[in-house]
Amino acid sequence: MTRALCPGSFDPVTNGHLDIIERAASHFDEVVVAVIANPSKEPLFSLVERQALLTESLVGIDNAVVDSFAGLLVDYAADHEIDVVVKGLRAVSDFDYEIQMAQMNHRLSGIDTYFLPTRSDFSYLSSSLVREISRHGGSVAGLVPPNVLHALERRSRDE
Ligand code: PNS
Repeated sequence: MTRALCPGSFDPVTNGHLDIIERAASHFDEVVVAVIANPSKEPLFSLVERQALLTESLVGIDNAVVDSFAGLLVDYAADHEIDVVVKGLRAVSDFDYEIQMAQMNHRLSGIDTYFLPTRSDFSYLSSSLVREISRHGGSVAGLVPPNVLHALERRSRDE
């Protein structure tokens, strides 16, 4: 059994993330989608909310499971018998940061990172842009799954 790890902040999950997870799930026996508990920036959605939004979005992908982690990714991977990390690459700008993490993770534990190019129609999509557009009342329909769209609308109304 080959188990892949898709880690991230998922604040919130976008259709770009879902595309990568779905494609990873077609290549590996199990995909563990692990939400970082304490991202570097204060998240819009709590850990519980980010996990719930992901779990709802992944209904139908039977070999994907959602979990959370704190601390080093390599420690989580070792504790959960993860074989590889899978990351999406949007543009060259992602590459610098991602290759650094992939090489450091490999140095720390020997784990490999597989990169999947994002679909071209999602190459400009990021959670931070989704948050910003939504905060200013713009539409992110088609960029995030329906449950995330509703959660963003609720959040804007409550603010
Ligand atoms: O969605 P993001 O914010 O790009 O995800 C980044 C994430 C969570 C994958 C990355 O920050 C991470 O792996 N953090 C865990 C801490 C860690 O292992 N740091 C050393 C990386 S070499």
